[in-house]
Amino acid sequence: MSNTGISKERIATLTQREVQTFALNNPKSRIASKDAGDLLLWGVPMVWQAGIEGPFSLFMESGRDNRVRDLDGHDYLDLSMGVYATLGHADPRYLTPLKESMENGLQHQYPSMILLDVARELNARLGNFRWNFSLNGTDANRWAIRLARHLTGRSKVLIPNYAYHGTVEEVQVLRGDDGTIDYYDSDVGTPPARAGDRTRIVEYNDLSTLEEELRHGDVAVVMMEPAMTNIGLVLPDPGYHDGVRALSRKYGSLLLIDETHTMWSGPAGLTGRWGLEPDIWTAGKIIGGGVPAGVYGFRDDLSRQLGETLRHSGEGLVGIGGTFSGGSHSLQGIHANLKYMLTPQNFARIEEMGSYATRGLQTVIDDLELPWHMGEQLGARVTYHFTPTPCRTMTDYVDKVHDDDLTYLLNLSMLNRGVMAMAFNNCWMVLPHCTPADIDLAVDAFRDSCQQLTVGT
Ligand SMILES: Cc1ncc(COP(=O)(O)O)c(C=O)c1O
Repeated sequence: MSNTGISKERIATLTQREVQTFALNNPKSRIASKDAGDLLLWGVPMVWQAGIEGPFSLFMESGRDNRVRDLDGHDYLDLSMGVYATLGHADPRYLTPLKESMENGLQHQYPSMILLDVARELNARLGNFRWNFSLNGTDANRWAIRLARHLTGRSKVLIPNYAYHGTVEEVQVLRGDDGTIDYYDSDVGTPPARAGDRTRIVEYNDLSTLEEELRHGDVAVVMMEPAMTNIGLVLPDPGYHDGVRALSRKYGSLLLIDETHTMWSGPAGLTGRWGLEPDIWTAGKIIGGGVPAGVYGFRDDLSRQLGETLRHSGEGLVGIGGTFSGGSHSLQGIHANLKYMLTPQNFARIEEMGSYATRGLQTVIDDLELPWHMGEQLGARVTYHFTPTPCRTMTDYVDKVHDDDLTYLLNLSMLNRGVMAMAFNNCWMVLPHCTPADIDLAVDAFRDSCQQLTVGT
């Protein structure tokens, strides 16, 4: 029996059954996947998609509101997209202004006025920052780190263990047992020029180790998600963020809050929800509403310092920037998304449906007497954990709770029942288009999937 309360043998048997069902149900995707295997690395356009639940990839045909349709004509309730890209597929509130703007050209050598609207809208939500743009969360973080190094004259980035901030080399490392830097087994081409030499790693929710590490005086930037959301969901202890803020100020390090994953939590992310005070704020993924976009902002006073110290012209700057970053199309996407999708009204609906979903899932857990619990619902994210109580660090979560096989089985099983959960994770992203009937359908799929786990145990 694993820590999750479900035996590995049972998981393996059921997975085999779900894999067979999936293969039978999806003949067109199976053929497309086979062809893609001859044409693409790993048979997918992005390597992470090769690991998504299923013996081969589904191919998608269309998406509208909270539904997507695959090549074999199945319609799924999409509870995954709120983390990656959008609060609703092809929503006309978002799409119409975007289409209109495309008539004026997708990209120009000089900026257009939409730039000012976007920056004003971001500041209306987050406070006084000065902004720049990228096409994804990774680059927003990479460039923000570079600028933080420039401002502080220090080299290191400090992160909590098991943080994920995109494919930023120096933060794709782990804390080894003796506190030294370790590399992921799966790291491609490890180690990339000993990137970890520029990293310090602490356990989340541990202020005393944080202070020990900051005391070295070489940390340019403390970088965190407001809650740790990759792998599982680990929430800050009461007062943790205040402690991080105070210590980073005390030791002269900047504080970067990365909301790439957490803009599903409210119109100003968890920064707005919890009143956080970062020096640097970054986001990617859902910020563009489906159009590739990333943003990074520096607090106004720091931006002025940056302006004074970086006297080169744009052309002379090495290490940040890209051709399409901050281009018209990307900015129009951010603008339409902020204005029409990431709105208080949509989030009110999301909260309502999210808490309905949380209650439904808790009932299943209680009825089936599973040793699991529901995480705190935060905006669109509804999370279940294979443990009776929350973990305070992601290391604890990975060591004691995380079970890839069980997650794979549940997600595949729900997929076979018409519900697309967020891949690799134990969570749903509830969209504003969800009705109580949609949530009931999803909870039924979860109940069905969990019921088979407990039969015969
Ligand atoms: C917190 C966080 N930051 C940054 C990124 C990287 O974003 P992207 O994949 O758009 O580069 C991710 C991606 O999952 C993330 O979760």
